[in-house]
Amino acid sequence: MVGVSRVLTFAKMADKVPKIKFNNGQLFPVFGLGTWKSKPGEVTQAVKDAIDVGYRHIDCAHVYGNEAEVGEAIKAKVADGTVKREDLYITSKLWNTMHKPDLVEPAIKTTLKNLGLTYLDLYLIHWPFALKEGGDLFPVDANGKTAYSDVDYLDTWKAMEHLVAKGLTKSIGVSNFNKRQLERLLAVAKIVPATNQIEVHPYLNQKKLIDYCKSKGIVVTAYSPLGSPDRPWAKPDDPQLLDDPQIKAIAKKYGKSPAQVVIKYGIQRDLIVIPKSVNKARIQQNFDIWDFKLSPEDIAHLDTFDCNGRICPYEDAYTHKDHPFIKDEY
Ligand code: A2P
Repeated sequence: MVGVSRVLTFAKMADKVPKIKFNNGQLFPVFGLGTWKSKPGEVTQAVKDAIDVGYRHIDCAHVYGNEAEVGEAIKAKVADGTVKREDLYITSKLWNTMHKPDLVEPAIKTTLKNLGLTYLDLYLIHWPFALKEGGDLFPVDANGKTAYSDVDYLDTWKAMEHLVAKGLTKSIGVSNFNKRQLERLLAVAKIVPATNQIEVHPYLNQKKLIDYCKSKGIVVTAYSPLGSPDRPWAKPDDPQLLDDPQIKAIAKKYGKSPAQVVIKYGIQRDLIVIPKSVNKARIQQNFDIWDFKLSPEDIAHLDTFDCNGRICPYEDAYTHKDHPFIKDEY
C-alpha cells in the first residue's frame, strides 16, 4: 500500500484533467495515454508511470498486441492503492476481422480477459471496413492482397449495442468513420456513438468532420496528436510535426514544448487527446499542460497548418467498399 498522502497527491493531479460529457451522460477525461506502437516490453512501465503522474484514461486496442501488458500495469496500480478501477477510463477497439455480429461479444471478452477487467469504459469499432474473419489480424488472399469481408458496419453496430445492455462496456463508439458513414449509422442506431476517434493534428485538422460530429453530439477523440513520428511506415524526409519551426516558435513563446502545444491545441478545440509515450519524462511533460492556454490568435494560426497531412491512410484496404478516406469526402 502507498501512504495516504501519496494517494491524495495522485488524486489531485488526476483532478487537473477536465472531463467531457458524452451524449449518454458518462464523463470522460479529455486527456489520456495512447498505447499504439508501445512495445509489450515497455508498455507496462509506461502505464504505471502514467497512472502515477495522474493519467486516468488509457486508450488500447486488440490489434496493438499489448493489452495483457497494459492490464498488468492496471492490476499493479489498483493493487498498490494508487488508483481504484472505477477511477480509470479504459478504451479498447474491435478489430476489423471481428465485425461479424456473432464475433463481437467474444472479441470484447478476449480484450477484457487480456486487460484483466470485467468491463470497459468505452469500446469502439476500430475501422468501418471488415476484413476476412477467423485467422490473421491482417489477412491476405492468394495474391498477397488484403482479404476483405463484406460485413456491414451497421450490423456490427447492433452487436456493439448489445454489449452495453450486457454491462461489458459503459459506452460504445466508432473510429475512422467519415461523415457519410456516420449519417448511415445515425439513421438506424439505437445508441448514438459516444465518440468518433480519428486522426487529428495541425497538419490534418479535420475541421469539417469535427463540426459535423459536434452537431450530432459525438465527441471527437484525436489520435496521432503528435503526428506519430514512430509510425512504422515513416520515411526519413516526411515532414515532422514536432520539428515544425512555426510550432517551435509558438512553443517558445509559452515556455512549453512543441508536443505540449499540439496537445493543448486539441484540448482547446474540445477534443479528447491521447498522446502515446513510453518515456517517463515525456509522459510527465505531455501531462503538464494545465498551466497555460493558447491564445485565440495562436489557435487560428495553428488552424492554417492543415495540409491534408494524413499519416494513417490504411492504404492496404483502399479498394474496400467501406474504406473511409475517399477522395472529396470527409
Ligand atoms: P516516446 O514513446 O519514445 O516518448 P503519437 O501520440 O502522435 O502517436 O506520437 C507518439 C510518438 O511521439 C512517439 O514516437 C513518442 O515517443 C513521441 N513523443 C511522445 N511525447 C513526446 C514529447 N513530449 N516530445 C517528443 N516526442 C514525443
